Amino acid sequence: MSLDKELAEYTSKTPRSRALHEEAVAVMPGGNSRTTTFFDPYPFYFQRGQGAHVWDADGVERVDFNGNYTSLILGHAPPDVVKAVQAVAESGLSFPGPTEHEVRLAEMLTRRVPSVESLRFTNSGTEATMNAVRLARAFTGRPKLAKFEGAFHGTHDWVMVSVSGDTKAWGNRRRPKPIPWSAGLPPAILKNVVVLPWNDPDACTEILEREAAQVAAVIVDPLMCNAGLLPPVEGFLPRLREVTERHGILIIMDEVISFRTAWGGAQERLGFRPDLTTFGKVIGGGLPVGAFGGRRDVMAFYDPRKGGPRISQGGTFNANPVTMAAGVATLNALTPEAHARLDALGERLRGGVARLLANTRRRGQVTGVGSLFWLHWTAEPLTDYRSTRPKDAELPLRVFLGLLNDGILMTQRGLGACSLAMTDDDVDRFVNALARVLARN
Ligand SMILES: Cc1ncc(COP(=O)(O)O)c(C=O)c1O
Repeated sequence: MSLDKELAEYTSKTPRSRALHEEAVAVMPGGNSRTTTFFDPYPFYFQRGQGAHVWDADGVERVDFNGNYTSLILGHAPPDVVKAVQAVAESGLSFPGPTEHEVRLAEMLTRRVPSVESLRFTNSGTEATMNAVRLARAFTGRPKLAKFEGAFHGTHDWVMVSVSGDTKAWGNRRRPKPIPWSAGLPPAILKNVVVLPWNDPDACTEILEREAAQVAAVIVDPLMCNAGLLPPVEGFLPRLREVTERHGILIIMDEVISFRTAWGGAQERLGFRPDLTTFGKVIGGGLPVGAFGGRRDVMAFYDPRKGGPRISQGGTFNANPVTMAAGVATLNALTPEAHARLDALGERLRGGVARLLANTRRRGQVTGVGSLFWLHWTAEPLTDYRSTRPKDAELPLRVFLGLLNDGILMTQRGLGACSLAMTDDDVDRFVNALARVLARN
């Protein structure tokens, strides 16, 4: 099916969303506050979600493999989380000071992730990585940040470099150039961000050796969750650890998404101990959240006792009790057995998609870890962001729209997530819908 036909079907099913979008553009640029979720001609408006399912403003039901970009690991409106939120909300929505809920969530996270000896909360993953980067600069006294090509760590200036887009002008694969991902980035940022090629230990070592005296930290999403879900090749992270330790460079592991892949996060799965870790998404149980933490000696920069902190971190809604309680209720549900079930759902989905691609001889692949998966439309060996770029650049959008038209929601870029609210039948529904979409595309 052509893109036009998929779009025609989409618009015919979503007239109420179109009307809402028309009202929205009068008061917001593009009618929107969230670039990631927008697509032309307009995104559908959500009316409600329950378990694995969402309904749009026209009452159309879809199975949700997006889960608010991997945040809703228990599905929509899980009763225990809703109950916890209601109970806390009834006794006050926010206060100018801490509550016990914050202590409990911090305890749960430090217990699960031993490298995180001490942590602080924010309202988003963006604020978490922003603080972790500032902290690394303060601790080391060095100005630069190293990040991987294709990795997304939020929307503050320091990490809006070489995230996505056409890679033709991105320079040599082994010595990538820093490319602004946004208008408005000051030139100082591009001078102070070093870009590394994922899964190339020799090239990374060479770059870091050259820049070592200036580099405060390497920020790493261990599964490249926004760049194709490409786990590190054997020996890659140990090499990174070795070169950074030798030069006093901190490693910030961005687990905003990857934390959901194991009880103790991806660092438990990979047997890796970073200096700092950032969190978001699932730890807030569906409400706005972020956290950053790690080595006690490094986190001490935020300690306000004895003469005040060396880094000040305010935030009117940091650690607000409603989010903290939702986080505690969510982590309580994420037992080792729950993680095993999530892994099984992910494996069933990836297995089904791989069989479908093989049986239909499609040029495609599926990657993923635990409950996460990514649909790729290339036959190239997948190693880094550049290798994930499809020849038919429009196909991911056709698949996304085709699945929407067939009652399945995932992300536009190809990332998807199973939730604990899903059944095997929901997963099979995904695979069967994809089969129909591919048959007409
Ligand atoms: C790996 C990673 N880091 C940071 C962020 C930013 O988090 P937030 O959207 O809560 O600001 C995201 C968001 O998708 C993410 O995937």
